[in-house]
Parts: sequence; C-alpha cells; structure tokens
Amino acid sequence: MTAAADEQTRTHAINMDALDRPSGQSDIDSEEIALEVSNLNLHYGSAQALYDVNMVIPKNRVTAFIGPSGCGKSTLLRCFNRMNDLVDGCHINGKIELHGTDIYSKQVNVANLRRRIGMVFQKPNPFPKSVYENVAYGLRIQGVNDKRRLDEAVEKALRGAALWDEMKDRLNDNALGMSGGQQQRLVIARAIAIEPEVMLLDEPASALDPISTLKIEELIYELKQNYTIIIVTHNMQQAARVSDYTAFMYMGKLIEYAGTNKLFTNPAEKQTEDYITGRYG
Ligand SMILES: Nc1ncnc2c1ncn2[C@@H]1O[C@H](COP(=O)(O)OP(=O)(O)O)[C@@H](O)[C@H]1O
Ligand SMILES: [Mg+2]
Repeated sequence: MTAAADEQTRTHAINMDALDRPSGQSDIDSEEIALEVSNLNLHYGSAQALYDVNMVIPKNRVTAFIGPSGCGKSTLLRCFNRMNDLVDGCHINGKIELHGTDIYSKQVNVANLRRRIGMVFQKPNPFPKSVYENVAYGLRIQGVNDKRRLDEAVEKALRGAALWDEMKDRLNDNALGMSGGQQQRLVIARAIAIEPEVMLLDEPASALDPISTLKIEELIYELKQNYTIIIVTHNMQQAARVSDYTAFMYMGKLIEYAGTNKLFTNPAEKQTEDYITGRYG
C-alpha cells in the first residue's frame, strides 16, 4: 500500500476503540493549565493566518491540532515557543501565558523560553554528529562538560525516547546513518535531554513508515507522564489514538476544542463533523 493510500484508509476509518479510554473523557475544567492563549491574532504581512484564538492547554496531557492543510496548525504551534519571531513580516497580537507568565513580554528571554518549550519538526533533523553528541548537544550548550553527567543524561534521554536498547552499542555512530524512525526518536531524545516542560510536535510521524509511526505514537503516550505535549497532525486517526484533547481549526480559526472522544464522536459544530467524516480536507 502506498503511504498516501495508507493515510487515506486511516483517516476514513476512525477506530472507535482507540477513543474508548478514560483519557478520551477528560474534562478540561478539572485540569491544571500549562498554557493559556487569549485573543491571539497573527498576520504574515497583510495576510491574516490566525483569528482571535482562545484556548487553554492542560498540563501533562496530549493536545492535538487537526484541520485541513493551510488552516494555521503549524502557525499556532510556532506561537508557543516564538518561532514565528524568526519570520519577517509576522505580527502577533494577543497573549500566550506559560504558567501565568506572558511569553511575549519584553522581559522574556527567548532562548530560555525555547529551553522550556521544545520543538520537533516533521522531517527528522539530527546533526551530522554521533548519536551521543546529538543528545548531549543541548547540555553542552548550557556548559555541561562533565563526562559522567553527560553519560547519565544521554542514557536517560535515549531511554525516554525508547531508543536506548537499539542504540546503546552504537552511541558513536553517525546519526545520519540511522533510519528515519530512529532519527525522529533521536531528535525527541535531543529535545527531552534538556528537560523542557512542553513539547511541540509538528506532524512528527508524517515522513515515517507505519511501524515507526506506531513507535512514535507509543512514545508520545509515555512522554505525557512528564511533559505537556501539543501535536499537529493532519491524520485524524493519529489524533484519536494519541491525544486527550483535540482542537479543530479551519481557515485560521479555532472552530471546536474538546475532549478527543467528544470531538470525534459527538462534535458540536457542523464544520467539525464535515471534516471528521471526510467531507472535506
Ligand atoms: N512563513 C510564512 N510566511 C507567510 N505565510 C505563511 C508562512 N507560514 C505559513 N503561512 C501561511 O499561513 C497559513 C497557515 O499555514 P500553516 O500554519 O502552515 O498551516 P497548516 O500547518 O495547518 O498546514 C497558510 O495560508 C500559509 O500559506
Ligand atoms: Mg503545518
């Protein structure tokens, strides 16, 4: 089966068993809040990409952003660690608070913010260095050079990314020789080595084969014990499998945001229903 056909089958056959679990029943009012978005509007030059987004992201849960290509999922995700600051002509109005602190205030050190809010992209992007040095990278930048401390941190991060058993005898191999799925778990290990509070994942499995995808999904499930996770995916089946909450976006607007189970089985909005039943997207 081609990747595209596989994707097609997955999106059109939502497995309700995956939804039938306690986490899918989550109630946002009883959650501890990690991030709060208020009246967020974003323009790229004169083109508006986000319209008045309001939402809270619960701590130690997985929140998925879904919606058709170009609806603003990645744009919204990048707002959380100020990656859009790097885009010329990008203007942001509104507020995002991390545990009550406005991340766009002048006092915020952006490098520190990105240490607290790590990001993993669609295509694995390991450095052309050894497995070990990829994972140790962030700590070395922070000035950690003690070998024992680095060894411990590298092992812990590789274990956390479900990669230790595969890679423990290959720590000095060049990361570029690993498979795509391994590389993506390595990039996740690199991100968690510096112990962020929040992990932003932008379609982390879309370039991977189905087995690697499953491994990443299992990993996300594990990671939420320790991290607040926001995942962008255009694969609804994946959102249903991994997330506690799902936000459906359309043309720059947050249309509906609810517990994943509720959103997929009993959406409040017609647009959400049309999307999840495959009428457009
Ligand atoms: N760096 C950029 N500069 C200008 N426009 C952009 C940029 N990134 C995204 N856009 C535009 O913003 C809109 C939302 O894009 P994006 O957030 O990438 O959507 P998604 O991730 O849901 O596919 C699209 O119209 C896209 O063309
Ligand atoms: Mg995107």
